[in-house]
Amino acid sequence: MANPLYPDYLPTRPDGYSPTLDVPLFEADEPGTRADPTTPSILKAGATITNITPIIGTEIRGIQLSKLTHTGLDEVAFLAAQRGVLVFREQDFADIGFEKQKEVVKYYGPLHKHPTMGYPAGTGPEFHVVYADEKAGNLRTLLGPHTTYDLWHVDQTFTPNVPSTTFFWVLEIPASGGGDTAFTSLTAAYEALSPAFRELLGGLSLYHTSASVGEVARVGMERALKEAVNTTHPLVIRHPVTRKPSLFVNPTIARKIEGFLPEESDNLLKFLHDHFRSLDFSCRVKWEKGTVVVWDQRAAAHSAVPDFADGERRHMLRMIPYGTKPQPAFPEKFIDSK
Ligand code: SIN
Repeated sequence: MANPLYPDYLPTRPDGYSPTLDVPLFEADEPGTRADPTTPSILKAGATITNITPIIGTEIRGIQLSKLTHTGLDEVAFLAAQRGVLVFREQDFADIGFEKQKEVVKYYGPLHKHPTMGYPAGTGPEFHVVYADEKAGNLRTLLGPHTTYDLWHVDQTFTPNVPSTTFFWVLEIPASGGGDTAFTSLTAAYEALSPAFRELLGGLSLYHTSASVGEVARVGMERALKEAVNTTHPLVIRHPVTRKPSLFVNPTIARKIEGFLPEESDNLLKFLHDHFRSLDFSCRVKWEKGTVVVWDQRAAAHSAVPDFADGERRHMLRMIPYGTKPQPAFPEKFIDSK
């Protein structure tokens, strides 16, 4: 196998090192609320804008994320909240160095320290390397035999503050192509439901736990439960930037509706998890050299598409800032489970 294009970005992690998952509630900033919605100046100066679908995803060329002012970064957060996912092409981001990468993403909030993913040597767990090759395997080899490998989720929602304007960029694309990332709109998924059904959902809250299926598989049920960090969030939240209701479901982390009996919860969540990934609300992002994806985790869920051949290298980097604590879309209907 050829050498990696970005050897300094290979994943490392000292044995046994795991930053705490428990991040207590804090006052957070939402830079997208500072943007002027009528005049996104970053889109004016010669940028090429193409919507991937009318519902979700916008591809942008002609802007360098690394050169934006704070006003420009506010506009990126605003547009990501509106469109779910922004795909910036022809970026220098992968080559600007760790400090500058961190400076840009930290503008949106304190960075999530991932409990298990590797980070480039000399950096820290704020950098999440997503890596596949013949030795590390890929998502299919890690999960074992399954019919399909869709793994729709919102990242790390078991804390009171949740991930917001997330940056994900490519270092090396599988040689045979593939390895896209799919996104689905949580706001469009909500809007497609009937008023009567929305009425029911507006009152509910979901239990989110770090003892996810993946975590249980990694450390075993007993340890996963002992170390788990848990919280509840409304099932329908009001997006802090767009002010739209958003269906805040998360199949890997939020698996119980508070106050429901197990069969009620399992069946309603199964319906919502099948519903929210419809092609009606989703899009696939094809990675190209220089692509940086910026998405808002309160507006879109995502799934890797591990369709490249076993043994191929796919090398990505992600940084997740925390935003505010999700608020119920309809406080007058919401039954606080605490
Ligand atoms: C993830 O699931 O968080 C990573 C997505 C990807 O590898 O495309």
